[in-house]
Amino acid sequence: MICAPSFLSSNFSKLKEEILSIDQAKWLHFDVMDGKFVSNETYNHRILKEIKQYSNQVFDCHLMIEDPEKHVEDYAISGANFITFHYEATEHSDALIKKIKSLNVKAGISIKPDTEVSVLNELLKDIDLVLIMSVEPGKGGQKFMPCALDKIKYLNNKRKDNGFDFLIEVDGGIDFETAKKVKDVGADVIVVGSFIFNQENRNEIIKELENV
Ligand code: DX5
Ligand code: ZN
Repeated sequence: MICAPSFLSSNFSKLKEEILSIDQAKWLHFDVMDGKFVSNETYNHRILKEIKQYSNQVFDCHLMIEDPEKHVEDYAISGANFITFHYEATEHSDALIKKIKSLNVKAGISIKPDTEVSVLNELLKDIDLVLIMSVEPGKGGQKFMPCALDKIKYLNNKRKDNGFDFLIEVDGGIDFETAKKVKDVGADVIVVGSFIFNQENRNEIIKELENV
């Protein structure tokens, strides 16, 4: 699997050092929070330009924001490779997917734990990535919610039955044990925050997570 470390739980006072400590990861997960869609507020598109100075990883932007339509261009211009918005944050998911792809960026859609996965059915033919939240969005360090497993299984079956090629990414409470569980039901990408940043040998942990 691909491991996308989330630096939400890192030490922002030494951000460059923290990002360099996970330089073996192919992807980097940006948790963008606006204080409205979720109660916490983190950073905006400007951080992509800063990190791009010393990272050539795949920039995987998770927008936990209201009105994502108004902001996706900023992320595209700032170097995002994937822009993932929340199904619950817009009335026009299909139009937003098309807009992100028109910016030559891969389009992702995310659903919260309480949202039924079948709401995505009509979008699966166009989407590049589905992000299944295995915690309530808004902060790191929470416990994995097993309800995510059936959603991953459902998407994996839909993908196989229809020849779709979207990626399945899982986000929240991932460690060696839950990484194995989500891999076994079809996940391709795992977002890992606190499990990596709470330890020192981060690149080794990333390698192990990629090969669970
Ligand atoms: C939560 C974020 C997740 C979180 C993952 O709103 O979307 O990416 O940072 O952190 P851990 O791995 O600590 O659950
Ligand atoms: Zn995230």
